[in-house]
Amino acid sequence: MSSNKNELNLNEFVSLCKRRGFIYQSGEIYGGVGSTWDYGPMGAELKRNIKNLWWDTFVLKRNDIVGIDTSILTHQDIWKASGHIENFNDPLVECKGCNKRWDQEKIQSETCPECSGELTEPRNFNLMFKTFLGPIESDKNIAYLRPETAQGIFVNFDNVLNSTRKKLPFGIAQIGKAFRNEITTGNFIFRTREFEMMEIEFFVHPEEAKKWHEYWISTCFDWLTSLGVKEEKLKIRAHEPTELSHYSDGTSDIEYLFPWGWGEIQGIANRTDFDLKAHSESSGKKLTYFDDSLQKHITPFVIEPSAGLDRAVMTFMTNAFEEEEIDMGNGKIETRSVLRLNPKLAPVKVAILPLSRKDELSGFSKKVYDTILNSPIISGLIQYDDTQSIGRRYRRQDEIGTPFCVTIDFESLNDNSVTVRDRDSMKQERIEITNVVEYLGNHLN
Ligand code: GAP
Repeated sequence: MSSNKNELNLNEFVSLCKRRGFIYQSGEIYGGVGSTWDYGPMGAELKRNIKNLWWDTFVLKRNDIVGIDTSILTHQDIWKASGHIENFNDPLVECKGCNKRWDQEKIQSETCPECSGELTEPRNFNLMFKTFLGPIESDKNIAYLRPETAQGIFVNFDNVLNSTRKKLPFGIAQIGKAFRNEITTGNFIFRTREFEMMEIEFFVHPEEAKKWHEYWISTCFDWLTSLGVKEEKLKIRAHEPTELSHYSDGTSDIEYLFPWGWGEIQGIANRTDFDLKAHSESSGKKLTYFDDSLQKHITPFVIEPSAGLDRAVMTFMTNAFEEEEIDMGNGKIETRSVLRLNPKLAPVKVAILPLSRKDELSGFSKKVYDTILNSPIISGLIQYDDTQSIGRRYRRQDEIGTPFCVTIDFESLNDNSVTVRDRDSMKQERIEITNVVEYLGNHLN
């Protein structure tokens, strides 16, 4: 190998995503719908793997967090109480360069205070998508598509507490779609109007809020690095007091260095008792917790790690991308693109690649495919591909990040062995069929 390139620009990234079935523009055959994107077969798998790993880590493997799944369509009273109707209604200008929004009266500047970019005209702008429940478009029937999943958690605080008997500190997690009528969208799936979030509302004793805030910042950071995100491409940035959301007493973002600059991928906020108190006052229903040791009701504080799933897709993919020049040994240099995704994230776990489509080999190969497919220790997508040259098939699998290719040749019929090729090292190992499932299981899990 002679040289490596591990940056790809936005256009290259968009084109890779389309070519290999990760992400397509929504409604492309009609010219495309602005800023909405569809996940293709590879993208859907990657997204599902991220969600499953997140849920596994933060819900299934912990005794102090439970998961829920609340409705997207939410009555206006919830957003009145949460402060979203009032606070998302300011006249705002937005920087066309870095997408930061500003209250124009406060910035006293014609250009973006952050990057000097051009600003949009001010608009009285509410970020929420408004609709009506039922056939009558009256003020009483107004509902909104949720702009965050968090409120579905807060309004169910008492239900979850009563049905699970959890003690502080404990969290409620949710993964789901959110909608924001962003003034400007951009950078592909980075800022869109429909996106998916992975959120935890972690309820704590008020005096322990600071400690838990620190804990969640480092836990979220470690989760990203444990899945291969390079530490030098991550940074933690505490919000200035002027940029804090209306509910926050302190927020730190985890930012990732995309090839086009730093961008927020997660935010960890100390929401204090703002939301529980607001819903309590507005609904008349007590949202408190009985503290056994104090023998009184308290309103817990909330620490909220909130992650954008689409931004996680972008992070994992751009972080894993590498282009390397390979010396083929015969004076020829070839370039290969490879997604060095953690195997747990990879859309395809194993590709079965017979060297020929002749009957005797395909019969044998399909048996190998069935064995791997039905093995209880290998889960995820297994592909069978007998089209094109083996070189092209390897290139395709490298570019979608498949950790292992299993190649079957005519010798396999005699020695009952297959060749297993490792995506990262490109090393090939001859392995007996009887050991192949165990070998793959050991390396994938
Ligand atoms: N409940 C807290 C909350 O909503 P946020 O910082 O507004 O906080 C959390 O959003 C995360 O959601 C962000 O860190 C980002 O990853 C993702 N996100 C926010 N707006 C987005 C958009 N328009 N498109 C894609 N992802 C977005």
